[in-house]
Amino acid sequence: ALRPATSLPLHGVRALVTAGPTHEPIDPVRYLANRSSGRQGYAIAGALAAMGAQVTLVSGPTDLPPPPGVTLHRVETAEEMLAACEAALPCDVAICAAAVADWRVARPGTRKIKKSPDAPPPGLTLVPNPDILAHLSRPGPARPRLVIGFAAETDDVRDNAAAKRLRKGCDWIVANDVRAETGIMGGHENEVTLITATGMEHWPRTSKDAVARGLVHKIVTEIAPSHH
Ligand code: CTP
Ligand code: CA
Repeated sequence: ALRPATSLPLHGVRALVTAGPTHEPIDPVRYLANRSSGRQGYAIAGALAAMGAQVTLVSGPTDLPPPPGVTLHRVETAEEMLAACEAALPCDVAICAAAVADWRVARPGTRKIKKSPDAPPPGLTLVPNPDILAHLSRPGPARPRLVIGFAAETDDVRDNAAAKRLRKGCDWIVANDVRAETGIMGGHENEVTLITATGMEHWPRTSKDAVARGLVHKIVTEIAPSHH
């Protein structure tokens, strides 16, 4: 860049981004997971860094290289993701793009579970995982100024996402339609509705990189308006 780094709009701003799926162990060789590629979160982390932010990216297992200028912490489980996020505080803006597993296996086997022709399949007892977005959104001195969540929905996308924003206590929520036929989860494109306290705007389908740049533009407008 020809501009000095200090003139970038998010210079001095600390950002935390979560991305990717989590893997919740069943035993040493098996896990529960989901279709998240991590692409949307990595694109946001990269776009924030390009605008001068100091970015910590807490990522579940993905195949993606870290975006330039981003500090990457790789984790596997939801509990590890929460701990890595807490270690990254304080920050000014937090964006939770990870598809955190909602449940983990209560007591993962320390040895591989063996199948037996006579025994029925093992039952898995699941327990809820911590909600990282709700945790970061809780009021208090360490709360980031701006907390942004995603809402992965297959039905009543906008209504469910608007309710989720209120339930989680985050400032903005980015709703996306993850029905299999959209190809969004695991794909390269996204079609989102940004929901804030004052309204919602629909963005036509485009690349996850373009969604990331659009969202970062909104963030600049919100927290560094003089640069806008
Ligand atoms: N999230 C999180 N920690 C969790 C679950 C979700 O931080 N344990 C975050 C996601 O990163 C996303 C937002 O919460 O920003 C919404 O996730 P989503 O799965 O859409 O919502 P849930 O509240 O988990 O509800 P459900 O899966 O039942 O729709
Ligand atoms: Ca969920």
